[in-house]
Amino acid sequence: MTTAETLAGALTRARDRTLALVDFDDAELHRQYDPLMSPLVWDLAHIGQQEELWLLRAGDPARPGMLPADVEGLYDAFTHPRASRVDLPLLAPDQARKYCATVRSKVLDELDALPDDSGDLRDGFAFGLVLSHEHQHDETMLQALGLRTGTPLLGRGASLPTVRPGLAGTSVLVPAGEFVLGVDAADEPFALDNERPAHRVEVAEFRIGRVPVTNREWRAFIDDGGYRDARWWTQRGWGHRIGAGLSAPLFWSPDHTSRTRFGRGEDLPDDEPVQHVSYFEAQAYANWAGARLPTEIEWEKACAWDPDTGARRRYPWGSAEPSPELANLGGDALRPAPVGAYPGGASAYGAEQMLGDVWEWTSSSLKPWPGFTPMIYQRYSQPFFGGDYRVLRGGSWAVAPEILRPSFRNWDHPYRRQIFAGVRLAWDA
Ligand code: AVJ
Ligand code: FE
Repeated sequence: MTTAETLAGALTRARDRTLALVDFDDAELHRQYDPLMSPLVWDLAHIGQQEELWLLRAGDPARPGMLPADVEGLYDAFTHPRASRVDLPLLAPDQARKYCATVRSKVLDELDALPDDSGDLRDGFAFGLVLSHEHQHDETMLQALGLRTGTPLLGRGASLPTVRPGLAGTSVLVPAGEFVLGVDAADEPFALDNERPAHRVEVAEFRIGRVPVTNREWRAFIDDGGYRDARWWTQRGWGHRIGAGLSAPLFWSPDHTSRTRFGRGEDLPDDEPVQHVSYFEAQAYANWAGARLPTEIEWEKACAWDPDTGARRRYPWGSAEPSPELANLGGDALRPAPVGAYPGGASAYGAEQMLGDVWEWTSSSLKPWPGFTPMIYQRYSQPFFGGDYRVLRGGSWAVAPEILRPSFRNWDHPYRRQIFAGVRLAWDA
């Protein structure tokens, strides 16, 4: 049950997070760290612009808004690709903060005025959508900060639970059988359009990694010549490897013993899930390891299905809300937790760290589930179906617990590496 008060609290926490990520001077906020990313001040005003559109103008851009139309147009992600945003006459940081604050105060008034039957909020979906959108951009801003050069702005991150040895390289069995893929609004009122509707699918028996692939395992792949041996790579992946000159995950030192994380050098933690690898590298690693990537359907079954009850669990571990004892989420750690850190977070099949830590590449292209209906934000998913994207599952350490579910689907181009993405292997059983 979600009340207006719960949503208002979540929106406020999201905003605190956003403002902390833009708490830098104006020159900093206008910098383009990499052509892959927007200047942080673009994300800030875009968060407010989308919030105004979905919650104060019912998604109708023809309704007058607070910004002049030409200024508002600067924040249309479809018109202005990321690489070009640094050259736009963007709102100054103080103007952007003030705009976001004005929108938010009206939004909280609207939320207060919603019909609230015995504490159960109807018509709250668009608020959840806006909450998800803001948190997703917070993760995008963290990707940008990861690519930033100069004196570090962020610390080393909050402390995390420690490794539980013996799990890397092990797998769990998921027996054949039907399960329910996806969710319905009746069970998950804030599920986004691409997660719906729930439907039964048959899945053949398979094995899946109990935990994600670690830095130590990845180093063995490198040491075995994995980046130099075309036989592990698909033709397209090998072409990309050569063209982009890949020889290790992004941010690794040439000797593969240290890395840069948000601009700080440190030893590579052997037991941490590898991150900053592309889909092509993930595929090559899996081939080298005698495995493959899971499909997103296999992934979701291993995460959410409970074969004893014949029903989905809300979270891999059950119905308890995510907590720091169950998963590494929310962004404060600034890194994944070592494998085995969350024994209490295991799924019914025994897979651990399915939520949080690293996004996990799947072999699936982004497609709608049968019966897909676009939500009010019609261009959230639909324009990307059938494009050159692979689905990522499970969320990273940077994802807010409030927006993550086992059914949550992310996607990116197969060559992207600035995202907090790693690998979980699968095998035919
Ligand atoms: C779902 C993360 C791929 O960042 O492109 C943000 C989320 N959509 N604003 C993206 C999104 C519109 C989207 N991903
Ligand atoms: Fe956006």
